[in-house]
Amino acid sequence: MGKDVIIACDFASKEEVFSFLDKFTEEKPYVKIGMELFYGAGPEIVREIKKRGHKIFLDLKLHDIPNTVKKAMRVLSQLDVDMCNLHAGGTISMMEAALEGLTREDGTRPLLIAVTQLTSTSQERMESDLLIHEPLDKVVMHYASNAAKAGLDGVVCSPLEAGKVHDTCGKNFLTVTPGVRFADGDVGDQVRVTTPAKAKEIGSDYIVVGRPITAAEDPVAAYRRCVAEFVG
Ligand code: C5P
Repeated sequence: MGKDVIIACDFASKEEVFSFLDKFTEEKPYVKIGMELFYGAGPEIVREIKKRGHKIFLDLKLHDIPNTVKKAMRVLSQLDVDMCNLHAGGTISMMEAALEGLTREDGTRPLLIAVTQLTSTSQERMESDLLIHEPLDKVVMHYASNAAKAGLDGVVCSPLEAGKVHDTCGKNFLTVTPGVRFADGDVGDQVRVTTPAKAKEIGSDYIVVGRPITAAEDPVAAYRRCVAEFVG
């Protein structure tokens, strides 16, 4: 499985995302489209970016009853995205239904990745709001194992957790990791960060990088630096 850098295109409008992508004249980076852009610009944005030759990770984090998720996944598979995701908290049967919905008639399907516990959820919040009293890292690994049991391809996690996820779920189980910063760059609102080189060393399969590329003075140079450090 090839390692790759995914650019988080966290822009509010189609115009902004296209003026950003227009800067890339030599390469076609893998891009992540999140809720803001998808809800604002609609499914057409996915088709247009795909038509330009980019791979797409559609980050919509589905979570509903199995039948609803299955039908929604069927729609996403027809959009021809390369990777999409859901919340592992929706249970193993929801994840199995999602996979079924995602699989096209010819047997192909996009990669399906699970979100375990969001990194915005602290141990305290998880205990007080969700009544989950196990240690957070144990919960994350348990959700990752559930995703593997359901047949999913991997999880979104911190690069710092990637090694442990591989130990628990196997080396072919993908780890898609945000929270990446250059050694000499701004950390911003991310808390536990690693450099692309360190993420590679720990074993991330894909790094998701937003502002270090999108807000850089020269986004193409920043992207190339990420690729050089992470993919080598
Ligand atoms: O700009 P930055 O590199 O922080 O962007 C990281 C991207 O990854 C954003 O789209 C953010 O929503 C997403 N993400 C994250 N942490 C998670 C899950 C997703 O930063 N735990």
